[in-house]
Amino acid sequence: MGYHRFEVSQRTYEVTLRVGVVYFTGTGNTWHIAQRYVQAILEHGKQAELLRLEEIVRKDDYASLEKYDLLGIGYPIHAWNAPRLVAEFLKRLPRSKGQPVFLFIIAGSMVGGAFDWARELLTIRGYAVLHEARYYTGSDLFLAACAGRAVDVELSQRFAWLDMDIQEAVAELLAGIERHVYSQSVLDFALSHLVWRFYLLGCRQARRYFRVADACDRCGLCAQLCPTGNIRLTDAQVIFGQACTLCLRCLNVCPRRAIQLAWLTRGKGRYLAPGYEKIVRELTIPT
Ligand SMILES: Cc1cc2nc3c(=O)[nH]c(=O)nc-3n(C[C@H](O)[C@H](O)[C@H](O)COP(=O)(O)O)c2cc1C
Ligand code: SF4
Ligand code: SF4
Repeated sequence: MGYHRFEVSQRTYEVTLRVGVVYFTGTGNTWHIAQRYVQAILEHGKQAELLRLEEIVRKDDYASLEKYDLLGIGYPIHAWNAPRLVAEFLKRLPRSKGQPVFLFIIAGSMVGGAFDWARELLTIRGYAVLHEARYYTGSDLFLAACAGRAVDVELSQRFAWLDMDIQEAVAELLAGIERHVYSQSVLDFALSHLVWRFYLLGCRQARRYFRVADACDRCGLCAQLCPTGNIRLTDAQVIFGQACTLCLRCLNVCPRRAIQLAWLTRGKGRYLAPGYEKIVRELTIPT
């Protein structure tokens, strides 16, 4: 699943340009990439804004996206495809008469058939998907963080390397060069979809596996930051609902490390991209 066929062609499209960059992040990696997209677009003298996907879904504010000449959509890979919340977002987008879109996907190491799935969905809804790029953050640092090693410096280096790829992608995008990332075969695509179906099932069942330890001091941060409003605090408990997108934000952000996913996370370190405090501030800005 790691190999992909690339297709590049030059088709000039109108670059006037006001760009909206919609992103979703669980642990912060996609936020870094999305930020860099915005900066790189601004450096080309275009207008660009960063938009939070979860807020658009929460407010049902899809209409606000129509004003952009070009729409970027960035998200992490979950089970070789889009996170559940992102899939919901894509499916709820209003029909378009050819609004140009670019996709950027962040993964540990494998994106499966994610681009094919998103491209097909967007194309059916009338969008013109022009540019696709994927960025690997590497699963090694995630595993190292889980093992309790501090990975901030290495992660920052990795983002600095990815920066060059982002600059190239943006230059290409604004020059009207189309790029697509296709699955190797129909089998790859089908397998990818199967894996994702299991993941969706896992999302719905996740509440049965979340545990909150006595260390919880009921600060409420998990509930405040959950992108799907899936966490509720009562007088006695932290309660998880059925709307989980398995972004693992709650688990990683909990200051007391009180949230566990069954036995999988017990005694393990936590993973957050560098600068997550800033992301938290951005995510909690009341709008
Ligand atoms: C539920 C879940 C499923 C994931 N599935 C994949 C996968 O199939 N392939 C992969 O390369 N990375 C996978 N990852 C790793 C994330 O894509 C990767 O860590 C990404 O950088 C996270 O971005 P974020 O920090 O913006 O949330 C998965 C992560 C989670 C939480
Ligand atoms: S973030 Fe952690 S400590 Fe705070 S309420 Fe949630 S589980 Fe409890
Ligand atoms: S409950 Fe936790 S893992 Fe699930 S969507 Fe909310 S923050 Fe993400």
